[in-house]
Amino acid sequence: MRILSVVLICLMLLSAVPAYASEPAEYESDFSSWADGWYARSTGGASVFLTGGGSLGVEGRSADWHSMGRDFPLTAGETYHISASVRQNDVDEARFVLSVAHTRAGAESYENIAFASAKRGEWTEISGAYTAGVFDRFVLYIETLGTPALSYEMKDFHLAGKLPVQQQADIPSLKEVYKTRFPFGTAVTYMEAINKTRMDFYASQFNLLTPGNELKPDSVLDVQNSKKLAVKDDTAVAVHLFAAKPMLDYAKANGIPVHGHVLVWYQQTPEAFFHEGYELFKPLVSREVMLARMEHYIQAVFRITEEQYPGLIVSWDVVNEAVNDGASTLRDCQWKTVVGDDYVERAFEYARKYAPEGVKLYYNDYNTAYEPKQTGIVNLLKTLQAAGTVDGYGFQMHHDISQPGYAAIEKAFKRVAALSLRLRISELDVTIPGQTEANLAAQAKLYGQVMKLALSFAGQVEGVQVWGVTDDLSWRARQFPLLFDAKGEPKPAFYAVVEAASQE
Ligand code: XIL
Repeated sequence: MRILSVVLICLMLLSAVPAYASEPAEYESDFSSWADGWYARSTGGASVFLTGGGSLGVEGRSADWHSMGRDFPLTAGETYHISASVRQNDVDEARFVLSVAHTRAGAESYENIAFASAKRGEWTEISGAYTAGVFDRFVLYIETLGTPALSYEMKDFHLAGKLPVQQQADIPSLKEVYKTRFPFGTAVTYMEAINKTRMDFYASQFNLLTPGNELKPDSVLDVQNSKKLAVKDDTAVAVHLFAAKPMLDYAKANGIPVHGHVLVWYQQTPEAFFHEGYELFKPLVSREVMLARMEHYIQAVFRITEEQYPGLIVSWDVVNEAVNDGASTLRDCQWKTVVGDDYVERAFEYARKYAPEGVKLYYNDYNTAYEPKQTGIVNLLKTLQAAGTVDGYGFQMHHDISQPGYAAIEKAFKRVAALSLRLRISELDVTIPGQTEANLAAQAKLYGQVMKLALSFAGQVEGVQVWGVTDDLSWRARQFPLLFDAKGEPKPAFYAVVEAASQE
């Protein structure tokens, strides 16, 4: 143990990098070519758009709070000075409110920061100061008072203050610690990707990135333009990369390879994809049309990513989560309904046909440690392997300290590894019911065990990826599943992952 500790300390010193640091910062929105993280706050209906004149518009509103909003990683106790200009052309005078929606432990609450009245057609400044409270998330937005259906524009949004947490200590770097074994990656969502300080911190730790949502069909399939193309050809598909752009730009600029997630999935895929003319009120398309759309979609995604980011995406999840829970059959979903049981095979066939040379194709799924699902996954992999269309399997590994238990994880890993496919741990996170010392220790232990397992297959493993970096931004934030806490401080789990590599 003593030798190990010495090794560990040496390793830590060798690879120490500064942790997440904050600086006084200014944020300014430039709406000349993109919305820069601003989105419509509404329960549906409202949408934001670039006006073309350097401002952002919001339309389709039906409540005063429907508005343009954006996430900001504010730090509790810091004061922020915020200003923007608003304009409306529909009523003699309209009242605007600059507000913040903040969330603590999943509960959202609101504060008004500043008020302004804007006469018809006049750009009007709205400005105020806000001292951040203790919350997990902040959304700044501009709403109205008494004009719920009004369309309006906003420009020159400016925020000055201290973004985000300060931390002094130097810590080891995961990508350095695992350098000779395999890339160590993380998922990154849009609101993280637009935060350069945060991305620089990620780049000091990780050498593989995956957009958490932004390469899913919901983000990539351009339904409006597909609809237009469908008038002539119902198999045509239009795509865009707007949501993924900040992350892909960062990865490209910093030479960090990307794993693409995901081409074909039963979730986060527009329902319109499956309907004639991309119209929800029309019937489902035929198997033939859907297969053609699938092929065109896969072809288009490979084409647009290669055109805009040549060589950046080294591997893709072709199909995600096709196997049922509690059974070894395919789950029911629109793909299965419209195409049939061979939709997974067809997706891999098309992916193989259009993937650039050397890009690895993965089937990705969760709960691999559970039977009979595990058998379903293995059978599916064998079918794909026989066709020569799959390169590897991605174990999501969304675990909890109480289940499924390390023994089951190891057994599943070894069974899939025996197929001689490439392997990834694609979405690692481990939930705990509360941040007690015992829970944090149990979490660290499981992380350490999983990493040692991956290390024992290092020749076969193409990457290990955590599903997010800091607990507050995790998709399971209430159960603190990641390696860093909300302040960006490394948790015991982080050190267990570092230590696993030093024990090899
Ligand atoms: C999750 C994202 O992290 C969330 O932000 C989103 O709301 C839902 O999807 N398995 C997957 C991932 O393959 O795509 C999922 O990501 C988590 C489970």
